[in-house]
Amino acid sequence: MKEKKDLKDTVKFLAATVILALSVSVAWSQPKGNETKGRFYFKQTCKSCHTKGAAGGEITPMSKTQAQWERYFTLGKHSKGTELLSKYLTEEQLRDAWVYLVKHAVDSPQPETCGK
Ligand code: HEC
Repeated sequence: MKEKKDLKDTVKFLAATVILALSVSVAWSQPKGNETKGRFYFKQTCKSCHTKGAAGGEITPMSKTQAQWERYFTLGKHSKGTELLSKYLTEEQLRDAWVYLVKHAVDSPQPETCGK
């Protein structure tokens, strides 16, 4: 009887370890950034050129799909590839803006225009 209980405990321990390892790897695979800060940087910096009638034309989180924003920030190029996005924000700020834009992309659960 006792051996059976030990075996059960071992199985429980292993299951808990696997679940923990999985959740850690899921957390790691996501770009680390702060959505709230990202909204702020996007509004403050990007929107200065990206409203209707401004130099870059209107751009909102809904201008792209999640996959398209992922690709855009992975490449890190801006203005038809003529310059780097890092011209406008630091790497850390770009990660925040990235998370914000992906979370509110046109095919996301909560699409957002960021106040037009
Ligand atoms: C100084 C003005 C300015 C700022 C600041 C700016 N942009 Fe742009 N952006 C432009 C211009 C100009 C274009 C090119 C528009 C065109 O050719 O139609 C552009 C193009 C784009 C495009 C269309 C694809 C491309 O790269 O050509 C995206 C998406 C974009 N910007 C996102 C951003 C983001 C995100 C930020 C903030 C990190 C940002 N922009 C900041 C001026 C700006």
